[in-house]
Amino acid sequence: MSVSDRSGQPVIELEDVHVVLGSNLALDIEALEICAGERVFVLGHSGSGKTTLSRLIKGRTRPSTGRVTVLGHDPAAPESRRRHRRRVAMIDQEYHLVPRLSVAENVLHGCLGRVSPWTSLLGWYPAAEHAKAGAILEEVELAGMENRRVETLSGGQRQRTAIARALMQDADVILADEPVSALDPELAEDALELMVECVARRNVTLLVNLHQPDLAARFASRFIGLANGKLVYDGPPSGFTERDAELVYRGKPSEKPTGDSRQDDRLAQDLEAADRRPGLHLVGD
Ligand SMILES: Nc1ncnc2c1ncn2[C@@H]1O[C@H](COP(=O)(O)OP(=O)(O)OP(=O)(O)O)[C@@H](O)[C@H]1O
Ligand SMILES: [Mg+2]
Repeated sequence: MSVSDRSGQPVIELEDVHVVLGSNLALDIEALEICAGERVFVLGHSGSGKTTLSRLIKGRTRPSTGRVTVLGHDPAAPESRRRHRRRVAMIDQEYHLVPRLSVAENVLHGCLGRVSPWTSLLGWYPAAEHAKAGAILEEVELAGMENRRVETLSGGQRQRTAIARALMQDADVILADEPVSALDPELAEDALELMVECVARRNVTLLVNLHQPDLAARFASRFIGLANGKLVYDGPPSGFTERDAELVYRGKPSEKPTGDSRQDDRLAQDLEAADRRPGLHLVGD
């Protein structure tokens, strides 16, 4: 899907967003719109702002200035927090599973937003939720492992448990922050494929932070490139040039001009604009 061909409704909107963390300008995004059903892969060097962007969408970080709207609401507003927590799922690098609990118990945690907190506290879930968890475990190829403690699982099995818990949530948006960084390259590809297939069956909007553009290109409908907190690429994976990769991963273009004057001007302007912000240091400088 190209940038100009987004058929779904906007589910994530950022307007003039700045996020200052300590003395760092961690994110500086003028405008960003992500529509329902998109599979967006966010690329960027370490410290470029990928996790900060996910945390903003999840409502765990507030913008210092500007506006973030997710599914029609401010994700950090206290009145919509509970509803938002349920509708936006996050799979992060460490998965945050409970190691001493079983696979099924961890997956059932995904339905906490819609069952009574008292019964779930005692580990009682409705039969329908058990059945749903079983079906999802089958989908992520963990059937038969329901009763295994998470601490006894391999890295790939833990990752699939985390995916299952996110699917159990019935979220409209799934954020995955470097979800395969703990896996070897072959497993990482299979794990991403599984995640994208499960998400596609549900027409969920997916945002994945990933370091490997080649891998991301296999699954993304759209790339977003961040460098020093700024949006430096937004478009289809097929349009992501070597020059874009250089800016995204090094935070600056090489001395060598590309021959494409529009692209060279854009790169120079991005870096100059970022340098002009008073009192703030560009992250990575
Ligand atoms: N609590 C904080 N206080 C100060 N600076 C912070 C804080 N959290 C993040 N930062 C800074 O904000 C910048 C963006 O961080 P972020 O974690 O979003 O980067 P990232 O792209 O996810 O990096 P990585 O690929 O290493 O995970 C970094 O330079 C980081 O040091
Ligand atoms: Mg990160």
